[in-house]
Amino acid sequence: MNVFVLKDEAAIGKVVGDLFCDKVLQKPNAVLGLATGATPLPTYQRMAKRCKAREVSFKGVTTFNLDEYCDLPVEHPNSYRSFMRAELFDNIDIDLQNTHFLDGNTADEFAQCAAFDALIEEKGGIDLQLLGIGRNGHIGFNEPANAFTDGTFKVELTPSTIAANSIYFTDVPMPRYAMTMGVGSILRAKEIVLVATGSAKAEAVKAMVEGAIDPQCPASALQKHENVAIYLDPAAAALLSR
Ligand code: F6R
Repeated sequence: MNVFVLKDEAAIGKVVGDLFCDKVLQKPNAVLGLATGATPLPTYQRMAKRCKAREVSFKGVTTFNLDEYCDLPVEHPNSYRSFMRAELFDNIDIDLQNTHFLDGNTADEFAQCAAFDALIEEKGGIDLQLLGIGRNGHIGFNEPANAFTDGTFKVELTPSTIAANSIYFTDVPMPRYAMTMGVGSILRAKEIVLVATGSAKAEAVKAMVEGAIDPQCPASALQKHENVAIYLDPAAAALLSR
């Protein structure tokens, strides 16, 4: 794991946004793994800015989003599909047909999860995966558990995640289930960039970087991957011993 501490989230957004743009400049048909939440917003703003300036085009890019809520209409503003349109896809020149999401309202979750993993493989695998981290150490919606997950699956969200994300749900109750790429699916990405900002993430960051590889901190599985960069602000890095 390579850990970088930058001065604030704006500086991280610039560097990480440029990493994604550079990947696309090197490989115009790159496959990108994307995350939602507050953390990636500066990264997505940087990508949109460079696309608007015609420095990079996402026309040939394919994306896979890590996760999606269950039992929430896709057109609801809190669905991750809506989030990605508002925060990135409507601001770049990507072909929406090449953006892939899990369907949290599917009648056959097992078939859909298998099809999602198979499609990632068919597209050649994820070249660069963006991750945030939950306060409980989750990545995607892989919650603390007794064993690491592998492929995409349906998960019951933990009270910590429900508490953290409930603030976004004002009109409907926060969903209790989600579909998510598993830890194994995430580790199959060729390159991974995880961003964490703010003091609320400091304990999870310490467990991820300096703790044992333990499914109680799902992000600690990233220690097993050969090509992971972690970008932190000083608050998120505060508990690291080196
Ligand atoms: C969302 C996702 C989650 C978030 C995590 C942090 O697609 O993968 O693991 O990255 O919950 O969320 P924020 O960035 O809102 O603190």
